[in-house]
Amino acid sequence: MNRTKNTQNTTDLLWLSDLHLERASDETRKRFLERLRSTCCDAILITGDISTSEHLTHHLGEISDACDDRKVYYLLGNHDYFHGSIREVERTVIALSQDHRNLVPLGQGEIIELSPDTALVGHRGWFDGLAGAGEETWIESPDHQKIDDFKHLDRREFFERLRQLGEDSATYLRQVLPAALSRYRHVMIATHVPPFYQGVKYDGRDCRWERQPFFTNSAAGNTIVGILKRFPHRRITVHAGHSHSAANVRMSRNLSIQVAGAQPVKPAFNGLLQIN
Ligand SMILES: [Fe+2]
Ligand SMILES: [Fe+2]
Repeated sequence: MNRTKNTQNTTDLLWLSDLHLERASDETRKRFLERLRSTCCDAILITGDISTSEHLTHHLGEISDACDDRKVYYLLGNHDYFHGSIREVERTVIALSQDHRNLVPLGQGEIIELSPDTALVGHRGWFDGLAGAGEETWIESPDHQKIDDFKHLDRREFFERLRQLGEDSATYLRQVLPAALSRYRHVMIATHVPPFYQGVKYDGRDCRWERQPFFTNSAAGNTIVGILKRFPHRRITVHAGHSHSAANVRMSRNLSIQVAGAQPVKPAFNGLLQIN
C-alpha cells in the first residue's frame, strides 16, 4: 500500500501528541498502530508524552514499524522521563534512532524543510515554573517525585531546575530559529509544553493561575517573541501538547499556537497538517 502522497511542493504531516501509550490497553494500542500504518500522509510529528521511560523504546519501535518509510519527527514530553533520568532517557532515544532510521528526534540542531516555504524545528521544552503563581503555587507537580533528576531536590531547588530546563529550550531556539526564519517564510516550532499561557486550557477552561507554572514555558515564549520581532515578514506556528486541552490561538499577525487535545487511554490523531 502506498501511503505517501509524493506531491512535490507540499507535505501532509500527521500530528500526534500525548499518546501516553503505557496507559492504553494492548487492544487499543494495536488498533491505533494499525490506523497509523494505513493512514495516508508524508510524515508524522509527535509533540511528546509518548509513553514512560521503561516502555519508551518499545513503543517508539512500534511507531517506527507502523510508519515504515515515513519519517517520524518527535520530541519527548515530561512523562517520557517518568521512572528514569533525563540524561539516560535521551541517550536511549538517540541510540534508538540509529536502529530505526525513520525516527528523527528533534532538538539536535536540525532545520527540516517541509516545503519550499515552511521548515520545522523542535525542542522538548519544559514548564519553567515562572508563569502565573510561579513558586508561590500550592499545587505540586508529579514530576518532582517521578523523575530521578528531581527526587532529591527540595522545593526551591526543584523550581530552580525547572527554570534551567526552560532556559535550555530558549537557548536552543536562539541557536536554530534565526537561521530557520532567515531561509523560510513560515517556521513551525514543535515543543511539548506550550510557550504561551494563552494557549493553555485545563479541562477545556482557562488554566488557573496556580497551575500555570506547570503548564507554560515562559522562557521559550519570550525568546520566540523576541526573535520574531527581527523577522516581521515571517510567520511562526507553535505546535505543543502537555495540557491535553485543544487550543488554537492567534497571538499576533504572524504568531499562532496550536495545542493538541488528548485523552490518555485513547491515543488519537490530532490532525493532518497540510504544509505548502
Ligand atoms: Fe500528556
Ligand atoms: Fe506533559
